[in-house]
Parts: sequence; C-alpha cells; structure tokens
Amino acid sequence: LPEPIVVVGLGADGPASLSQEARATVETATVLAGGVRHLAFFPDHPALRIPLTAPLADAFQRLAAAREEGARVVVLASGDPNFFGVAEPLRRHFGAEAVRVLPHLASIQLAAARLGLPWQDFVFLSAHGRPLGPVAQRARAARRSAILTDDVHTPAAVGAALLAAGMPAETEVHLCERLGTDEERIRTLPLAGLPTTEADSLNLLLIVQDGTSGGFPIAFAQGVEAFQHTRGRITKPAVRALSLGQLHLRPFGVLWDVGAGSGSLAIEAALIAPLAAIFAVERDPEEVALLKENIGRHGTANVEVVAGEAPEALAALPAPDAVFVGGHGGRLIDILRTVLDRLKPGGRLVATFATLENAVGAGAHLQSAGLVPEVTLLSVASGRAGPGGTRLRGENPVYVLTAEKGGS
Ligand SMILES: C[S@@+](CC[C@H](N)C(=O)[O-])C[C@H]1O[C@@H](n2cnc3c(N)ncnc32)[C@H](O)[C@@H]1O
Repeated sequence: LPEPIVVVGLGADGPASLSQEARATVETATVLAGGVRHLAFFPDHPALRIPLTAPLADAFQRLAAAREEGARVVVLASGDPNFFGVAEPLRRHFGAEAVRVLPHLASIQLAAARLGLPWQDFVFLSAHGRPLGPVAQRARAARRSAILTDDVHTPAAVGAALLAAGMPAETEVHLCERLGTDEERIRTLPLAGLPTTEADSLNLLLIVQDGTSGGFPIAFAQGVEAFQHTRGRITKPAVRALSLGQLHLRPFGVLWDVGAGSGSLAIEAALIAPLAAIFAVERDPEEVALLKENIGRHGTANVEVVAGEAPEALAALPAPDAVFVGGHGGRLIDILRTVLDRLKPGGRLVATFATLENAVGAGAHLQSAGLVPEVTLLSVASGRAGPGGTRLRGENPVYVLTAEKGGS
C-alpha cells in the first residue's frame, strides 16, 4: 500500500516551529510539496519538490504518481492544515485514510492569544476565493467572527461588504497581520475605517460585535415597503408571519418558495435561517428582476433565484424540507403533485390562496394524497396613527393551507 501523505503545518518561523515528530517526518520525506513560501524553508532538503499551485488537480496527479512509485510524500502548509487548508482537498482527492495531519497552531489561535480572547465562540469564515455575499451574511449574524481574506477579497473589500450588508459602522475590528513573525502587527479599528485600510496579504480579520445592539435584526413580517414589489401580488406581512411559522424552517434545510414574486417570503426565511438553502422559483422575468434586487438589498445570499415555471423548474432542485406555494398560475394540481412527490418525509407544505375554489381544490388534493391539511383564513386590518386618529384598512382575506408529509 502506498505510504499516507503527511500534511505538516508550519509556524511563521518555518522549521524552528516543528515538533520532533513533524521534524522527523519532513526529514525522511522523498517528495516535498507545498506553497513556494513553504518549500523555501527547506533549501537543502534532497527531496523532489512539487509546488502546490493552482490548478491543484495537476499537482495532486504528480503526488499520486510519486506515491505509486513508493515515495514518502510530505505536504507543507501554514498553521493547522484543517483550518481552511489543504487537508480537505487532499482527502477529497486521495481518500481520508491516505492523509495524515500534523498541525501547528491555527491563525485564529495566535490572534486570540495576542488579543486575550477565547476563540471557541468565533464563527470561522473565509473570503479566500469565495463570494463575499455569504461571508457578510454570516458575519453580521455572528457575535464574533474570524475572516480569512485574499488578494482580491482584501480586508478593505470585506469591510465594504460588511457595511453594505448592514453591519454597524462602529463594530470593533482587529486586523491581524503577519501573525507569528517579527513583523506581526495588530490594529484595532471601527468597521467604518476598514474599507480605506491597506493590509499585508498575510492577515486575519476578527470582527467583534459585542458592543453593538445585539446583532443584525431577524426581521420578519416586515411591511411591504421593505421589498420592491408589484402591488397586489406581494404576500402581506401577517400572511408571511403565519406561513414562516408553519414552515418549521430547519437551520440548514432546503426550502422552496414557488411563485416567489418579490421574494419576500424567501428573503425573510433567509434572515431567520442564514445557513438554509433557499430556492426562489419565479416565471415572470419582471418579478425575477425585483427578486434579485430584493435579495441584494437584504443581503440574503442563501436565496438562489430559479427563473422558470413550476413544476418543470423544480426538477433540478434538491429535495426540500419545506415548500411555500405563493403562486401557481393555473398549474396548482401539477405543482402540488410534484411538491408532494419531492418533499422529504416529515416535510412541511404551506400554500396561500386568494380564492375559495383554489383553497378547496388544494385541500381536496392533499387529502386524497393521504395528508391532513389545516386551513386558516387570515382577515387582517392594519393602520398607522394619523392626525385624525388611527384608521384601519382591511386587506383581502387569504387562506393559508398547511400540511405535513408523513413518514418522518
Ligand atoms: C401572489 S405572487 C407571490 C408573491 C410572493 N410570495 C411575494 O411576497 O412577493 C405569485 C407569483 O407566482 C408566480 N407564478 C405563478 N405561477 C407560477 C409557476 N407555475 N411557476 C413559477 N412562478 C409562478 C407569478 O409570476 C407571481 O409572481
């Protein structure tokens, strides 16, 4: 059997940081792989050198060939290779049993030690080669977060994204550069200053929201003015509130919003469950444009727009834990059939109807499929205090139908 690949984590001072075991492992390697910076720490090592540069797959193929010929492969990496590091891509390529890790300290541990903070309650995020939207969405929901950056998603770019996502300008930021080296520097500044701050490319950002007013609001049942919408179409706040409750959202589950329109329901679900995978299905191109604008405005990167008509557009989506049907365009029964077929056991369906006939038709179909639907008629009036008193305006009543698929 080929020898396992050993991934050795290095501190900033290179070989001096190695444990006895790690040192012996590196010394007996016949192939040394790693970043150019890591390989440079061992200029006199006799091993064959394989730089790990993108695309990684090419370098991995060379490692595989060397292993087949009996090489002892050591991959050099920074800190803990299991912290946003090379260990996971190696396991994916070679299998878990082929990879051993000898970690050094993760950058977050060094930063926490310098700042006198415990690191267990940080949320760990990486903007390295990844879109900023999900990073900003998750950071604003976390009391403390640590964010890795890269040359494109610099601390300045991350700072701008956090501000755009609604994080308060006074949020405390620790910009940690060249941790563990002689040039180590830690600057503490308000988030407002980050977009104009230059940083060394070796850095880690810590975002601490302790002093702010409790984090980003999990607003739901927001007024219709919170969304760009077509009048008369958007799901009204009280209907949205009941529907969101009845969906029993799962923190990292899958939700479909069928006939998503402005996306108000999908977006509020995303504010409640930022780790859920939410698919907003909409056939009307004008509504799709509003939907995209609203997702941007609310910073809910975990809502994916599916521009197309249900039920066909549902075929490629992952099986849902919950489905909201807010529009059907005359294809109600087709849509319900597909939804009941794809819904996971124990999954929840919530559908809203403006007409008695559709509510009855949907209820009958669900019953014939063996479900026990419940219905609520929501008849809401609301108003705002004015000079002549508070006048209430009635909304059209809406049927909210809920059912749970058996077999959980
Ligand atoms: C009443 S609106 C939904 C409102 C939405 N929940 C909101 O808050 O903005 C119904 C939407 O469903 C869309 N729709 C109707 N039939 C559809 C279908 N078969 N597939 C995809 N979208 C559909 C319509 O274009 C419309 O935008």
